[in-house]
Amino acid sequence: MGARFAGKVVLVTGGSSGIGRETARAFAAEGATVVVAGRDEQRLAATVKELGGDASAVTVDVTDSGDVARMVETVVARHGGLHVAVNNAGILGSPAPAADLDEDGFGAVMATNVTGTWLSVKHEVAHMRAHGGGAIVNIASNIGAHGRLPNMAAYAASKAAVSALTRTAARDHIADGVRINAVSPGATDTDMSRRPGETDADRADRLKGAIPLGRVGATAEVAAAVLWLASDEAAFTVGHDLVVDGGATA
Ligand SMILES: NC(=O)c1ccc[n+]([C@@H]2O[C@H](COP(=O)([O-])OP(=O)(O)OC[C@H]3O[C@@H](n4cnc5c(N)ncnc54)[C@H](OP(=O)(O)O)[C@@H]3O)[C@@H](O)[C@H]2O)c1
Repeated sequence: MGARFAGKVVLVTGGSSGIGRETARAFAAEGATVVVAGRDEQRLAATVKELGGDASAVTVDVTDSGDVARMVETVVARHGGLHVAVNNAGILGSPAPAADLDEDGFGAVMATNVTGTWLSVKHEVAHMRAHGGGAIVNIASNIGAHGRLPNMAAYAASKAAVSALTRTAARDHIADGVRINAVSPGATDTDMSRRPGETDADRADRLKGAIPLGRVGATAEVAAAVLWLASDEAAFTVGHDLVVDGGATA
């Protein structure tokens, strides 16, 4: 693989685990200066060590506007710019039938997945449009706009909102030179897709009938879609929501 991101500064929220960590690795492998962001300092430090090179971390709670503004300012102060942002931070919440969700649980999923993604877009665009543009990839989910699953009302609604936010923001800001797209992964091999106590084999068994390809996705398969959307090869792709789910919602 060539160095499609040489000279680029890339921010990945939720970059110290799962899909975010693999995406950070993939950008670093293609020459980017990567900054991973999240709440857990220790996990961020371990990820930075693993990434090596000029990778670094910034702590952030994406539900807090001041914190998100500080995250972008820190990246720019440290590296002189921000060219690509991957808004990947998200939570599943506790699955339950819609009427049995409680207000705090519903609110936490919305705050992280919807408000957190919007705040990230807001502060990233503010920098990018004043400094020659950039590319943003939001991580939604196939369960949002595309899928149908029981007990996922908060998560599904939040991710449908991320897909809608992506399309709208893409139209709002393409004239500013900021290209915004989304990736909607299906079940992917991270802790989030495992039920409590479930082994990889249990998960494979539970999901095999629901995924025509017959397996969960690898984090590298999601990262590859993110990198393509962030790259110049996707220069004419605007407001797209790229479903990467082994055919689950085809
Ligand atoms: N795995 C799947 O099957 C799947 C399928 C579709 C979509 N997705 C989406 O893919 C994204 C990554 O998920 P994953 O599977 O890789 O799960 P994960 O390992 O739990 O990653 C989620 C990341 O989000 C960060 N985060 C959560 N709340 C945050 C907050 N308030 N502020 C800052 N960072 C926060 C976490 O870091 P800290 O705890 O350190 O803050 C963590 O690094 C999520 O948006 C998820 O909804 C996953």
